[in-house]
Formats: sequence, structure tokens, C-alpha cells
Amino acid sequence: MNIKKFSTAVSMAEAAGEHIIELVKKKPESLLCFAGGETPLLTLNYLVEAALKGKVDFGKCSFVGLDEWVGLGRETKGSCRQTLFDYFFDRVPELTDSQICFFDGLANDLDAECKRVDEFIAKHGVIDFMLLGIGMNGHLGFNEPGVPTDKYCHVVDLDSVTKKVSVKYFDEEVNVSKGISLGIKHIMEATEVMLMAYGEKKADIVKRTIDTEPTSDVPSTLAKNSKNAVMFIDEAAGSQL
Ligand code: GLP
Repeated sequence: MNIKKFSTAVSMAEAAGEHIIELVKKKPESLLCFAGGETPLLTLNYLVEAALKGKVDFGKCSFVGLDEWVGLGRETKGSCRQTLFDYFFDRVPELTDSQICFFDGLANDLDAECKRVDEFIAKHGVIDFMLLGIGMNGHLGFNEPGVPTDKYCHVVDLDSVTKKVSVKYFDEEVNVSKGISLGIKHIMEATEVMLMAYGEKKADIVKRTIDTEPTSDVPSTLAKNSKNAVMFIDEAAGSQL
């Protein structure tokens, strides 16, 4: 896996943003997937500002959400849907609902949700680009340690580390025990995957991701088996390398 290290999280986000802009220029009808969580926020902001200045046009792109906490919807601040819509989809000019497919964490039938999202991706053929945050336990989306590698969308029991970390996203107390997520098969089949991490707290998992042979025990290592993966990190996240 190619590793690109940047002096700051801001310069990393700019480079990631420029990379995505180039990709959309080359293939305007790209299917893009952005993680929720904190990691992509600076990059999403860069992309929104570029779109508002007319430097990029997402008008022909499609978007698929990476994951969602089961039981949470947009009205919960900290849900993946709320994050992606508030930071990106609702700020990019002239995006329409038909361009966006996002898990409904409140759906009664989660298997049907998985099927719906799988079909949206299949209709486009392949995900052109995924921007993935690395969880503290190495999860990608909600592909937790021990994840089966042969799955597309699936419902997951959350790892204890994920439940513990989850409090950082929410203002109110929420009880999360399951997630719904794109699967490792989507990550393997995507044309390009960008793993991203910044900050000292990610230094340990970044080192483990790089030093460990691909294994489900550390899902981020599986990205090394994907077609074309790159890892973007800042100095602090790369401080143990
Ligand atoms: C969270 C999210 C993922 C995110 C990852 C890393 O649980 N569900 O979409 O990529 O874990 O989160 P963060 O970027 O906040 O460190």
C-alpha cells in the first residue's frame, strides 16, 4: 500500500480533496463513498468550497454512504447520515436525492436495507473511490475485527472498542450495539481506496496497519489486498513509523 505523509491534517485534506477533484474531472459520473466520523470532515469541507467556487461539478456523480449506527437516523447529531448530509450533501449545490444512497439506521428490515444499498452499487457497476477513516481498532466502516471477508452490505455487532469510542460523536446518551455497513467485498472491488488518519491517537493503529499482514483481526490491513489502496496520514498519525 502506498503511504503518503503530510505535515498537517489540513495539508492532507487539501491533497485528498484535489485528488478527488481530479478523479471527478476524469470521470464525472463516478460513484463515490465517504466515511462518516471525524476523519473526512476537512476533506469534505475542501470539496464543498471547491464546488461552491465552480472548481468541481458533482452533478453527474453518485454517492453511497459507508455505514450507519443501527437505531439512529438523521435527527441524531453524530449519526453518519447527519454528518454526511450536514457537512457535504446539503452544502454541495444542486445535488438531488436520486444521486445519494444512504443506509437508514431506523429501518425495520435491515436485510432489505443491505439489499437496497447493494443494488444501488451494482447498478453503477463499481465504487470508483472510497475515503475510509481507520477506527481505533482498525475497523473500516463497521467492518469490525474478525469480519468475514466475503460479504457485501451486512449488519454487524459492534466491537467493544467501537462502543466505547462512540461517545465522542453524540451529545446525548445513545445505546448503540449494532451497525450496518458496506462490506469488505466492496472495499476489495473498489477502483481506488484511500485510508486516512490524522492525530497522535491514530499512531498505534496506523503502525499496526502497516506492519501487519492482511488479516480480519485488523480490518484496515485488508485494504492492502484491494486493487489500488493508498494511505494518507499526517505527521502525528505517522509518528510511530
Ligand atoms: C466510525 C465510523 C466510520 C469511521 C470510523 C473512524 O465508527 N462509523 O465511518 O470511518 O469509525 O472514525 P473517526 O474518523 O471518527 O476516527
